[in-house]
Amino acid sequence: MANKREKIGILCSGRGSNMESIQKAVASGQIKADIAVVIADKPEAKALEKAAAVGIPSVAVDRKAYAEREDFERALIKALDEEGVTLVVLAGFMRLLSPLFVGHYRGRILNIHPSLLPSFGGAHAHRDVLDYGVKVSGCTIHFVDEGMDSGAIILQASVPVLDGDTEDTLAARVLEQEHILYPRAIELYVDGRLEVEGRQVKIK
Ligand code: GRF
Repeated sequence: MANKREKIGILCSGRGSNMESIQKAVASGQIKADIAVVIADKPEAKALEKAAAVGIPSVAVDRKAYAEREDFERALIKALDEEGVTLVVLAGFMRLLSPLFVGHYRGRILNIHPSLLPSFGGAHAHRDVLDYGVKVSGCTIHFVDEGMDSGAIILQASVPVLDGDTEDTLAARVLEQEHILYPRAIELYVDGRLEVEGRQVKIK
């Protein structure tokens, strides 16, 4: 029996270039799933306009409208569940999700982080990479657990850190890889090719 087609909900906070790369991979048939909704935690997020421009339902769930994080997350869950979302994809979503949210979609939340985890987690990866002086950086796609950038790793890609790099030049080099890697990881998930045992993710 064929599996039911996954319905993806993408959470963003800003520009939405990863959202666009995922949308293109869905449109081309690389990812055999549907994007049910794009949600941003700020009404002004560019990602919302970009999603709407290609006909994807886009919704702001404004973090500022909720005093408590859990109320905000309940609103997120409601918006995702209303669209029947089965896979939550964090694409530049700049908030740590609590056990309430993570428990609701356990094993069905993916994130992208612009460094080679477990090095340089957190909100300033490129700055921290340059300050430390490492020679290689990259990006990581991982499952989301209750920690910060700590879930099991699905795919990683590396890029060199070059003399004279600024946060912007390094970010641009990493972003090129992000736009290839995230669609590939979602494709593997959707095709049922990820086998997770604790921290180990094997590709079947
Ligand atoms: C990306 O570098 C992503 O890895 C990080 O935030 C950035 C978001 O960019 N978490 P965009 O909104 O997808 O263009």
